[in-house]
Amino acid sequence: MCGIIGYTGKLEVQNVLINGLSRLEYRGYDSAGIAYFRENQPHISLRKTAGKVKDLRAVCDKVNPSTCGIGHTRWATHGGVSTANAHPHRVGKVALIHNGIIENYAAITNKFNLADELQSETDTEVGAALLNHFYEETHDPKETIRKAVAEIKGSFAFGILFEDHPGEIYAVRNVSPMVASFDPKIGAFIASDVTAFIEHTNRYFVVPEYTIASLSPEGIALEDLEGHPVTPEIMTVDWDLTAAEKDGYPHFMIKEIHEQPAAITRTITPRIKNDLPDFSGDQVPDDFFKGAENVTIVACGTAMYAGMVGAEFIQNHLRMPVTVSIASEFRYSQPVIDKNSIVIVVSQSGETIDTLEALKLAKQYTDRTLSIVNVKESSIARESHYVVYTHAGPEIAVASTKAYTVQVATMYLLGFKLGLVNGRLTEDEAKERVQALKAIPGHIEEVLQYENQVKELTSRMVNAQDAFYIGRGLDYRVAMEGALKLKEISYIHAEAYAAGELKHGTISLIEEGVPVIAIANQQKVYEKVISNIREVKARDAFVILISKDKEINDPTVCNVHLSIPDVPDDLTVFETAVICQLIGYYTSVGKGLDPDQPRNLAKSVTVE
Ligand code: G6P
Repeated sequence: MCGIIGYTGKLEVQNVLINGLSRLEYRGYDSAGIAYFRENQPHISLRKTAGKVKDLRAVCDKVNPSTCGIGHTRWATHGGVSTANAHPHRVGKVALIHNGIIENYAAITNKFNLADELQSETDTEVGAALLNHFYEETHDPKETIRKAVAEIKGSFAFGILFEDHPGEIYAVRNVSPMVASFDPKIGAFIASDVTAFIEHTNRYFVVPEYTIASLSPEGIALEDLEGHPVTPEIMTVDWDLTAAEKDGYPHFMIKEIHEQPAAITRTITPRIKNDLPDFSGDQVPDDFFKGAENVTIVACGTAMYAGMVGAEFIQNHLRMPVTVSIASEFRYSQPVIDKNSIVIVVSQSGETIDTLEALKLAKQYTDRTLSIVNVKESSIARESHYVVYTHAGPEIAVASTKAYTVQVATMYLLGFKLGLVNGRLTEDEAKERVQALKAIPGHIEEVLQYENQVKELTSRMVNAQDAFYIGRGLDYRVAMEGALKLKEISYIHAEAYAAGELKHGTISLIEEGVPVIAIANQQKVYEKVISNIREVKARDAFVILISKDKEINDPTVCNVHLSIPDVPDDLTVFETAVICQLIGYYTSVGKGLDPDQPRNLAKSVTVE
C-alpha cells in the first residue's frame, strides 16, 4: 500500500525516482508524485498527479538536473484519488512521503492547531504539518523527527525533505517497510522495497523501526531515538533487474505464471535431502514439530488459499486437527491454541498488516510460530520464531501466481516433515511423496502447453457476468483460488462452491452460457463431482472441466475438457491452479483490462 523512494547522490534524481516508482507501482497506482531540491538550492519543487507513474512522467520537466529527492505512488486510504491528495505533501519547509496510516491525525490536528495549514484530505499532510511545526521550533531535522514520532500513533515509513538541508533526506519508520542502500559511486537510497533501486545496487539493509536515517551523497547515518548510532545488517538480493522486469512478456502476470516451474524447483530443492524433507538449512529444529497436537494456519488472500491446501493434507493424511483462519478475523478472536499448537503464517510480502498482527497474537499462546514468506527480512519473517523463505523471486503482478504455488509446495514439505517427526508418515511414504513433488515443475511445463487453448476458450468468458468454480475436497480449495484469480483481474463475479452444495441455492443462478469451471481430480469423489457437473450442464451452463481423464467427449458433461498430467490426487492442485491462472489472465486481457494493475487493489496490504 503506497510505494516510497528517496535518492541523493550523483545521478539525476528524477529518472531514479520515476524508474523506481514504476517498479513500486504494484503497491498502489492511484496517484504519484515527486519532490526534489532545485539544483541543490534550498528550494523544494513538487510534481504530482492523480493517475499512474506514466502520468507523472508527463507532468515532469523534460530535463531536471536535481540529484536529491523523494517519490511516492499511492493507494488511497484517507481521502479520494486526486492530485491534491497525492504525495509528497508540503507544509512550510517540509516535504513528506508516507506509506502507512496516521491513526490519530484528527487529535494531532486539534492539539497543534494545524487545521488552517491543510489543503488535502490526507492523514499524511497532518504529518507534514506536525513535522513543520516542530521544525519551526527546533530548526533541527532529527530533533523534529524525534518530537513528531512521539506524537504519532499508527504505521509509517516517512521520507522527508527539509528545505534548509539541500542534498539530504531523512527517513524513519514504524511497521511499514523501508529498506536503504549506499554505494559511494552512486549515492544513497531509501525505498519500500529493493525492486525500486535494484538497477543501481543489489546490496541493502532493512531500516530498523524507530531509527532515524540521514541520507546524503556521502552516506547513510542511522541513530535510534536516543541518538545512539545503529549498525545495520547488510544483505544482498539473489536476483537482478531482469527478475523485476517483463523480459519480453506483455505483462508481469503471464511472465510469473511461466516462472513457476523454476520457482518451485528453487524453493523445494534446498529442503530435500535423500528424498526426505529437511529444514535444517532454515534452522527449523525437529523439536518444532515434535509433539504438536494441532496446527493453525493464518493468512490473507491467495496465501490463505495456499494454507487451505496445506490444511487438507495435514488433516487428511496426518489426522491432525487444523484450523485455517483469515488473518483479519483471527487477530480479533480468542484463538484456541496453546504451547502444543503450531501456528503457520503465510505471506508473499511478509508485510500484510493483518497477518503480522495475527502472528503477534499467536505468539502470546505458543512459541511454535513459523512463517512462509517470500520477501527476505520482511516484518513477518522477523517476527516469527522460524521462517521458511519461498524462492519465487519478486512477484510484481497484483494477482498472485508463482507465490501461491511455491507456498503450496512449502506447505507440503512442512506437512511431510510434521508427519515424519510425529510418526504419522513412514519414511517410505514421505520419500514417495517427495519424489512426486519433485516431478511437479515438469508437469507444470506440460500444462503451460495449453496456453493457446485456454486463450481461445476465454473468448466464451469475456462477456460473462458471473462464473462458478466447483469441486470437492482439495479441488474445492483450489476452486477458491481460481475464482479469486478471475474476479480480481477480470471483474467478473466469480464464486467457488463445494460441488455438492450447489443444489442448495446457487444452482438457481445457473442459466444458459454461465461459465462453470469444474474440477474433478479427487478419485474418492470423482463420480459425485461428475454428477454435480451434469446437473449444471443440464441447465445449459458452459462447462470447462479440468480432470486427469485422457479424454472426455460426452456433451452431457462438459463443453471443453482440459486433461492434466496424471499425478497423485493431492498434487493436482499445482496443475489446476496454473490452468485457473491462465483462465483469469486471458479473460482479463480479452476484456482489454490490465491484469497487472486491477482497479482498487494493491499487492502489499499494509493497512487494516
Ligand atoms: C493482497 C494481494 C494478494 C495477496 C494478499 C496477501 O490482497 O493482492 O495477492 O494474496 O494481499 O498478501 P501476502 O503478501 O500476505 O501474501
